Formats: sequence, structure tokens, C-alpha cells
Amino acid sequence: MAKPDKKMEINWQAHASLEELSTAQQLLLQAAVEALDKAYAPYSNFHVGAAVRLNTGEILNGANFENAAYPMCLCAERSTLASAVSNYPNSVVEAMAITVRNPEKPIDQPAAPCGACRQVLVEAEGRQSADIEILMRGESGPIYILSNAKLLLPFYFSGSFL
Ligand code: THU
Repeated sequence: MAKPDKKMEINWQAHASLEELSTAQQLLLQAAVEALDKAYAPYSNFHVGAAVRLNTGEILNGANFENAAYPMCLCAERSTLASAVSNYPNSVVEAMAITVRNPEKPIDQPAAPCGACRQVLVEAEGRQSADIEILMRGESGPIYILSNAKLLLPFYFSGSFL
């Protein structure tokens, strides 16, 4: 007899509009939207903005930074997180908001971070022993909120294996 499959469940919140978010969440998403204009994306023309809120209340944002050698392109999530942990190593990253803009077509669904960014976000959670809330939105449309990055990458690689 075949063994029963194991099952995992992922919970997240879907909000129809900004008004449903807390003020802190709205401000963070706004900072991610503002970061879209900082994107250096001459090759893909796809703009990604990210913002993090530290436990000090400070908000930092960043965007994708592309390269003519395509694999060198830096995602907005990782460049923003690297900037935060490098400049504020003793602070805790409480939340990250991510948004996107494609001038060629409107994006009305949340664009989730790529696999590499998920792995890096999970490492940051482990380092600070605290969850990072993830907020995602397209240019318009619903806002998805996950209470931590591990929910995005259930089978993450962990330093505990090493
Ligand atoms: N990009 C991000 O900034 N974050 C992601 O999670 C996925 C993709 C960027 C990389 C590249 O500059 C552009 O989007 C198209 O892939």
C-alpha cells in the first residue's frame, strides 16, 4: 500500500486595499513604491522596489541593479537586505515590502521574491532569531502578507546541515 503523502499548509493574508493595512505596513509599502524609481533596469525594463523596517522604526529601501553580464543582476530584495544588515548589524529587520513595475504591462498581482532572495531572507531570519514579515504587491491589486520568509521556502537550506 502506498504511503500517504505528507502535507504542508501555508497561511497568508490577502488584503484588497491599502486601507486594510496598519499604518506601519502602509508606510513600508509606500517606501517600496518610492524605490521603484531607483531601479537600474536597462536590460529587463522590469522595476522592483523593496523596503525594510527595522526594530528602531527606521525604513530603508532599495531596488534592482542590473548588469550587462546578466547573471550579475542584483535583485531589489537582496540589495535592500544587504544594505540593512551591513549598515545596521545590531538591528532587527521586522518586515520587508516588495513591489514591481513593468512599463510594458500593468502588473495587478503580487510578484513574489525569486528563490535566491527567499533563501537569503530565511538566512536573515535565522541570524536575528526573529521573523521578517513579507508584504507583496503588484503595481495595483491585492496585497499579500506572510508572517515570515520561511513560509515562502518551506524546504530551505540551513546552516544546521553544515
Ligand atoms: N528581480 C528582483 O529584483 N527581484 C526578484 O525577486 C526577481 C527579479 C529583478 C532582477 C532583474 O533586474 C529583473 O527583476 C528581471 O528579472
